[in-house]
Amino acid sequence: MSEVVSGQSRYLLNRENSQKAIEAGLAEAEWYQSPIPRETMRELLVRRDGPAIRDTVVWFGILFGSAAATIALWGSLWAVFPYLIYAAIYAGSADSRWHETLHGTAFKTDWMNSVLYEIASFMVLREGVIWRWSHTRHHSDTIIVGRDPEIAAPRPPDIAGILLGLFAIRAYPQYFKNLFLHSVGKISEREMEFIPESEYPKVTRTARVHLLIYLLVTVSSIVFQSWIPVLFIGLPNLFGTWLMLVYGLTQHTGLAEDVLDHRLNSRTFLTNRLNCFLYWNMNYHVEHHMFPLVPYHAVPRLHELMKDDCPPAYSSLWSCWREIVPTLERQCREPAYHVERVLPESAGTDVQRTRRAGKSVDEEGWIDVCGGEELQSMDVLRYDHEERTYAIYRGSEGELYATDGICTHGKTHLADGLIVGKMIECPKHNGRFNLNDGSPARKPVCKALKTYEVRECDGRVFFRMGDCLVKN
Ligand code: FES
Repeated sequence: MSEVVSGQSRYLLNRENSQKAIEAGLAEAEWYQSPIPRETMRELLVRRDGPAIRDTVVWFGILFGSAAATIALWGSLWAVFPYLIYAAIYAGSADSRWHETLHGTAFKTDWMNSVLYEIASFMVLREGVIWRWSHTRHHSDTIIVGRDPEIAAPRPPDIAGILLGLFAIRAYPQYFKNLFLHSVGKISEREMEFIPESEYPKVTRTARVHLLIYLLVTVSSIVFQSWIPVLFIGLPNLFGTWLMLVYGLTQHTGLAEDVLDHRLNSRTFLTNRLNCFLYWNMNYHVEHHMFPLVPYHAVPRLHELMKDDCPPAYSSLWSCWREIVPTLERQCREPAYHVERVLPESAGTDVQRTRRAGKSVDEEGWIDVCGGEELQSMDVLRYDHEERTYAIYRGSEGELYATDGICTHGKTHLADGLIVGKMIECPKHNGRFNLNDGSPARKPVCKALKTYEVRECDGRVFFRMGDCLVKN
């Protein structure tokens, strides 16, 4: 948050505000999930490179095509039109590319996600490492006051700030100030709240790379006595950020704070194919928050499966804004006011998931979990015993694994995650663990999972609850 409007100090990320949320049971809490059959969810989670490669080629095609048209028409007023398209793609639509690749779900191939993530981060004036952690917190504590660093419209809303935001007027000074501070190793108190210390050197490196690129662009403009370099890198945010806000502010603005149900604090709206392409289906925002591992190309199908468990989707982008504008106006006078989303009568409310439990343990600690055919290749089962939760997995070659069932990064059930090779990917923030020894394989996971012995015998799967194989 660049500036604190009177009354907004409770949104600041500091120890005191964070502690209040923790004491209220709102931090790192368990969130409601609509019931989706396990087999269906496995299908939805399948990653593919094809759709994202196709969409990225088209997207860069529009970007380079509009840049070429701008140069071809340079010197005439007609150059304004392709340039505005370029700016909207560069500074507006890049936000959704940034978002999907941050989650690591856009492409199947990890390096493709990483490359597009770094490019899109640069385009939307974000430092990749900082925002990766910031967004991790946003998914843990969505619109939880004092915990979520990405609340776009704290109350009472700063209308002038939102309007200036359309042109990135405040984003520029904030971004460059941060780049200079981070490039010399300075991390703010707010950032320390959600970024682990081990990531600080990466923050510094990224800031230096961004600064170097801007330095080269500026020098090019001076040397060639031309506006074109800065017009294509740097200035597009002035003319294109509006698109990011037109889409992005629909996500949570004006809805409930401090609730543990994404159906009440997020918006899903239906829209045309152009918006779906530019926004990469993030108009299905309730679905995305509830199941962040589902790739953007599968989210429309997820919507069909869970829509009866959710408030009705907004009929268009326009219908969202018809609600948001008067809500913001009213919140200026009545900061406590928010839009109440109403759940259908048949909607679920319990935070419950498929589980197996209740079998007794033999004297060696082995327990019969399920029939072998119930645990298919690349599948994972949750198993509860007394106060503890475990996860039992079968890999692509039929091999079995057993670990603690809750991610060491947050209170998330790994049985809702995705097996990737010989790793389990957490459904909340896409952290990964190696299944054979529980060691962390991808950030934000830093602490190992406990692993247990597991075996298949006479067509049944058993695991041993006794001593874990890896001590932490
Ligand atoms: S809860 Fe964050 S990676 Fe699992």
